[in-house]
Amino acid sequence: MGKQRVLSGIQPTGDLHLGNYLGAIRNWVEMQQDYEAFLFMADLHAITVPHDPSTLAASTYNVAATYLACGIDPAIACIFVQSHIPAHSELAWLLNCITPLNWLQDMVQFKEKAIKQGENVGAGLLNYPVLQAADILLYEPDKVPVGEDQKQHLELTRDIAARLNYQFGSDDHPVLKMPEPMIRAEGARVMSLTDGTKKMSKSDPSDLSRINLLDPPEEIQRKVKRCKTDSVRGLTFDDPDRPECTNLLTLYMILSNQTKAAVTAECTDMGWGQFKPLLADTVVAALQPIQEKYHAITSDAGYLESVLHQGKERAEAIANVTLAKVKAALGYSQPL
Ligand code: TRP
Repeated sequence: MGKQRVLSGIQPTGDLHLGNYLGAIRNWVEMQQDYEAFLFMADLHAITVPHDPSTLAASTYNVAATYLACGIDPAIACIFVQSHIPAHSELAWLLNCITPLNWLQDMVQFKEKAIKQGENVGAGLLNYPVLQAADILLYEPDKVPVGEDQKQHLELTRDIAARLNYQFGSDDHPVLKMPEPMIRAEGARVMSLTDGTKKMSKSDPSDLSRINLLDPPEEIQRKVKRCKTDSVRGLTFDDPDRPECTNLLTLYMILSNQTKAAVTAECTDMGWGQFKPLLADTVVAALQPIQEKYHAITSDAGYLESVLHQGKERAEAIANVTLAKVKAALGYSQPL
């Protein structure tokens, strides 16, 4: 039996940070051996909120370079840019026409982002999850590894596939393959350095709230020194009233490759003044090989381009087959 297929993507908006690495990319690196992995930069999603055209292409390439620097191996995983493959936009249109409007209006993320955008809500923001459904369904993945916040988008993807299959397929010949979600445990969530109850996020206005994977060592030291703590004595993983403490200990545990028991024993009597430099040094050491590899990759522009070209060819061959199947089911003629 062949390997199962997984597919996931990240929007190339802003620099990738420790939350993206520990919550997503590191898991993909582990999975790429056992699964056929399709990983992409969701640059069509990146324009659903106002964007800067002068940085879009560079951000997209930088995310690709970061995937590789973190250990995604382009010889086994398929890495590609969403906008390089027209089938994403085309299937998104077809799916839009079978998706009830109220399904989209009820999406939690749409409502949250729409509130933030105020007056300036584009139709793309509403249709965002339909494009995501197209991204997924084109590749017929078995599983889609994403964070908890994307669960609703995956359920919508399944609902859209079921609806299309019901309307245009038959029980023994479904048009679209039903993907299974693979939701990461809450534990893998990295929280903000300035508020331990909020997820570390690219969209937080304060750069002090996150450690970017490319932050130089002095910047990491500075951010850890200034991160939010509390005035309780001793350090513990398990006090729900100390979210910052739990988050920082967890970061230390993961990045130093230790067990919870070992970190508990080591840190239980520590004060922040002792723990913070330890954490900062650990983060710097963990990111150093990633940063070195990133700089090697980006100093050879031709290399990254060839990886993305190969990724496009491999991905597009699969995407076009699915698209043709959907168009045939919907009754379109084939051009000569
Ligand atoms: N919406 C996802 C996020 O913000 C990114 C994404 C776009 C995605 N298309 C996808 C993730 C398809 C998984 C599968 O995290």
